[in-house]
This record gives sequence, C-alpha cells and structure tokens, in this order.
Amino acid sequence: MSKENIVWHQQNITKENRKKLLNQKPCILWFTGLSGSGKSTIANAVEAELFKIGRKTYLLDGDNVRHGLNKDLGFSELDRIENIRRIGEVSKLFVDAGIIVITAFISPFKADRQIARSLVKYDEFIEVFVDTPLDICENRDPKGLYKKAREGAIQNFTGIDSPYEVPTSPEIIIKNSKSSIEKNCDIILNYLIKHGYIDGNCDYSI
Ligand code: ADX
Repeated sequence: MSKENIVWHQQNITKENRKKLLNQKPCILWFTGLSGSGKSTIANAVEAELFKIGRKTYLLDGDNVRHGLNKDLGFSELDRIENIRRIGEVSKLFVDAGIIVITAFISPFKADRQIARSLVKYDEFIEVFVDTPLDICENRDPKGLYKKAREGAIQNFTGIDSPYEVPTSPEIIIKNSKSSIEKNCDIILNYLIKHGYIDGNCDYSI
C-alpha cells in the first residue's frame, strides 16, 4: 500500500511528559524462550511485583494475544514473523505511553527480536532469555503440546520441527530450571533498579 498520502502528526503530549507523570522509565521486558520454559509464569510474577510497588505495567502474552489481535495468525515462519512484528509495534506504543511493557512470546527468530529491539531506543529494550533446556520443557509439557507435536498432530512446533534461535547477547539470562520463581523475579527487579528503570528507594525487598 502506498504511504505517500499519510503524514506523521506530531502529538502535543510526548513520551517525556508521560514519563514524568508516571514517574518511571518505560521499557520493554522482552521474554523469549521455548514453549513451557516458564516465560509466562515469570513474566506474571514480575508484573505482580511491579504492580505491588505502584509501577504502571502491561503484560502481552503469546497465548492471549493470539486470541485477539493475532487470532488470524498460525505458526508458519511467515505468521510468526508477523506475530512478532505486531507485538513489537504494540509494545512501542505502550512505551510511548510511559508503560513498562512485559512480553512473553517464544519469538524464536533472532532477526525478528532484533527488529522489535530496533523500534525503540537502545535502553528501552531488555531481552530476557528464559534458558530452559528442551528436554525439561518437554517433560513439563504443561499443555500436552509437545506430546502432540511428537505424534505429528501439530506441525511447526518450536524445538521439535521448527527452530529456536538462542539469543547471543540478552540483557538477562534466566536459568529457569535451576531456581525458584522468587529468585528469578529478584534477578529481573534488581536489573530494573540497578539500571534506573524503577526507583531504588521503592519498597521492593531484595
Ligand atoms: S511465536 O513463536 O509466534 O512467538 P507465541 O509465543 O505467539 O509463538 O505462541 C506460542 C504458544 O502457542 C505456545 O506456548 C503454545 O502454547 C502454543 N502453540 C500452538 N502451536 C504451536 C507451535 N506450532 N509452536 C509453538 N507453540 C505453539
């Protein structure tokens, strides 16, 4: 579609205004990892901790977003690319609104995560790799999907017959299989405090 007749309209209220109003530094906490790695669980726990200390957040989760905005998309390579492209753009809007956005998508392809990263400023994107080995995810199999994939009832399943490209330099690595949810939450909250996304004087007890 030609964009020649669409002109960017400058809005009166800027991201800087919103940051001041909300008293926080907005960013995207971009969780990536295999299905069953624990992305959604940790993302939820992190959001709950941030909520408790009065931070303004929003969680975008793969399974949920695929019920609405992305319900027209499946799991082919092209559909996954479009899935992540849309999430990147939505996250960018939330960052512009001053919000700490938490996303939990497999996002298996490096190039797509890189595109999402490039949509915001360099310090507004925090990649969180939930590094849980495939055999553990498959053993957990919380939705019974690995079993179905092994039986051939689901195609293009990440880790089985569709690739997962491991992040090369994520800001945070969570070895989910080795520590508790509380510990993993602490790692992320500590990162946010240390890098000034949330106030070090907040009530979060480390
Ligand atoms: S992504 O690859 O496009 O980033 P997304 O995170 O949105 O995936 O959705 C993954 C979730 O969809 C999984 O947690 C799982 O519950 C479900 N799912 C259904 N089919 C597949 C599949 N073929 N591959 C991976 N996950 C699938």
